[in-house]
Amino acid sequence: MNDYIELPKGAGPIGVFDSGYGGLTIYNEIQKLLPQYDYLYLGDNARTPYGTRSFDVVYEFTRQAVKYLFRQGCQLVILACNTASAKALRTIQQIDIPSIDPGRRVLGIIRPTVECVGDMTASRHIGVLATEGTIKSLSYPLEIRKLFPDIEVTGEACPMWVPLVETGEYGCDGADYFVKRHIDNLLERDPEIDTIILGCTHYPLLIEKIRKYTPEGIKLLTQGTAVATSLKEYLERHTNLEALCTKGGTTTFCTTEAGGKFGDQASVFLNHPITVKNVVL
Ligand code: DGL
Repeated sequence: MNDYIELPKGAGPIGVFDSGYGGLTIYNEIQKLLPQYDYLYLGDNARTPYGTRSFDVVYEFTRQAVKYLFRQGCQLVILACNTASAKALRTIQQIDIPSIDPGRRVLGIIRPTVECVGDMTASRHIGVLATEGTIKSLSYPLEIRKLFPDIEVTGEACPMWVPLVETGEYGCDGADYFVKRHIDNLLERDPEIDTIILGCTHYPLLIEKIRKYTPEGIKLLTQGTAVATSLKEYLERHTNLEALCTKGGTTTFCTTEAGGKFGDQASVFLNHPITVKNVVL
């Protein structure tokens, strides 16, 4: 495919991408830690969920989103989506960026999450709750093995959890059934687990129910803080790229779905009202 796209030169906002609302849990923490930058958030709500889609489809959708964010001037894009990080990040970094613009960067969120687990687990048995796509990709066990070869990893796919969040039903009584079922499955498969990674950016919205069904003493790792800290350190190390991130303290929200619906739902995630632009990728 011809990758030539007309790209604006110079500095731009930091792009934050997710299949839908989940990436807002990452954006929230990034924005709190690094409020000086401008951000452009893109949710592909029209095509969410990604978690049950094939490798090729997730790669193509993510690639379109990254190219959109590059066209808006982003020099740096965070894939605030585990499924996209698992299935599309490497190909985008190795194949697409060199042909689009070798100076731009796309970062994922699995590595910064994994870096935290070594200090959290005493039993050296950890669990990962994530989408089917992330679990099947084996990205978590592979990344964990590279850093902590002594840790046993058990993954459990939770295909209903993202739809519960995207439809705004994460607080309803029916959600308890699906939350409990997957936590029970995970802990039955490995009763020695003492730390669980919530490896999907939508899951912090279910945190109250997840806590309710997780036995005391088991730690839950959400990703926002880890990703924000890792981004801060990355920008400190990459000063040329940092200089290309504009610093006006603004955020623009975009969605591939109707903007009004996104605004209503996103305001719940963010605790304040926002305006949203509808875009075509
Ligand atoms: N929020 C995304 C993640 O972290 C996935 C949601 C989806 O299935 O689209 O994996």
